[in-house]
Amino acid sequence: MRKVVLIGTGAVGCAYAYSLVNQGLITELVLIDINNEKAEGEAMDLAYGMAFAPTNIKIKAGTYSDCTDANLVVITAGANQKPGETRLELVNKNATMIKSIVQEVVKSGFNGIFLIASNPVDILTYVVQKESKFPPNKVIGSGTTLDTARFKILLGEYFEVDPRNVHAAIIGEHGDTQVPIWSQASIGIENLDKLLERRNNPKDKENLDKISIKVRNAAYEIINRKGFTNYGVGMCLTRITKAILDNENSILPVSCLLEGQYGERDIYLSVPAIVNEQGIKEVLEIDLNETEKELFKKSVNTLKEIKY
Ligand code: LAC
Repeated sequence: MRKVVLIGTGAVGCAYAYSLVNQGLITELVLIDINNEKAEGEAMDLAYGMAFAPTNIKIKAGTYSDCTDANLVVITAGANQKPGETRLELVNKNATMIKSIVQEVVKSGFNGIFLIASNPVDILTYVVQKESKFPPNKVIGSGTTLDTARFKILLGEYFEVDPRNVHAAIIGEHGDTQVPIWSQASIGIENLDKLLERRNNPKDKENLDKISIKVRNAAYEIINRKGFTNYGVGMCLTRITKAILDNENSILPVSCLLEGQYGERDIYLSVPAIVNEQGIKEVLEIDLNETEKELFKKSVNTLKEIKY
């Protein structure tokens, strides 16, 4: 059985559900929302699409008792950013809400993996882990997996290669203090620094800096135009779901609890981690250059300063 319970059928939750169904990754999907009628309508609408989906999936609106035997509980519920609003400014609205959700899920006897996308995702994933008392490897935030995807797309366009051949990552806060890791980047099997040497284009440095700024501001740009983001994060959640359900041991920059890695502890933020059916199999401590270490520390401090 490959059962997912989705809590929150807003724009992000529905994009995730739609992506899951179309990729045929699961056997059962249960939708929960504070507005049960909305959840029912979304479930009905998706269920009728099964005729066109690659696999047959049982879809319904449900209750927290449906979490008992789920593999994954995915939380997308909560307020999202308004134009110009930072993710961190959502913390008070969403922290209380997510605590009550976790209490209901734990009461069901759920023993699977939590995957969180509600923002500010690093702080809310920390709240879920503390409230649920689940082992940290079973509580994962989508983190900068989405930012890293955006980074790869833009670098792929710039170097005119398939983004799947761009090996680079954004780590830290899924937010304004995120950190591009240039020092470890490669295009195909060529180290980025070597590629830039070979290209010897004086404009490259400035253009690459512009790309990292474009990644950091991507959500704001989208929100200014359509009012919210949902497709990218929905597909990102599906990617992480696949790594878990298929026991992939894939390396993804998800939001995980640091317990001494990078000299930090008792904080959730994104670093490369091996993801499989156990959740986080291993947090990877990659080399950072001095600039990256400083920016990472700034990200840590920014998150630790948030009171909620
Ligand atoms: C974004 C939201 C999910 O970056 O934080 O699109």
